[in-house]
Amino acid sequence: MKLTWSHAVLYVRDLDKMLDFYTNVLGFEITDRGPLGDSTPPEIIFLSQNPDEHHQLAMIDTRKDEDAPNSVNHVAFRTPAFADVKSLFEKLQTVDGVNVGPLSHGNTLSIYFNDPEGNGIEVFWDTPWHVAQPQGKPWDVSMEEEQALAWVKENFDHEETFEPREDYYGRRNDAAG
Ligand SMILES: [Fe+2]
Repeated sequence: MKLTWSHAVLYVRDLDKMLDFYTNVLGFEITDRGPLGDSTPPEIIFLSQNPDEHHQLAMIDTRKDEDAPNSVNHVAFRTPAFADVKSLFEKLQTVDGVNVGPLSHGNTLSIYFNDPEGNGIEVFWDTPWHVAQPQGKPWDVSMEEEQALAWVKENFDHEETFEPREDYYGRRNDAAG
């Protein structure tokens, strides 16, 4: 058996606010929605940005407590372009109640932020390297791609495990048969 990650389902308090954030700020599309039971509330709303995945996230608006989310630290999404991380970082600065911080794991250039209800989100771009985890250093999002890559190399290549990502994933794939 081989499991690959597909989606997460969140209990939310303010569905309109959450859908606005996930669609208008993060760019998800609503792919489906409907009542969970026989035409009675609550409703489940499905969201995706992946044309091969019916939903990557879903929301059910049954949350009543005012507590911070407490069992999931964050959900993470990969983006194919460095520029996406930069532009999302800029965009998030303009959203009320959202705090965003850049952190590089050596194998990624990431930003971490919260959604309107305090769920943790990471959006990251893969660097060309692998390095053993955990690792984390704040990085300067104003850097251009080339500078950012040079910064990653400078900051992580003293690590013994720093190597091209294809070497690391090549071994992982070989081991998986
Ligand atoms: Fe993460």
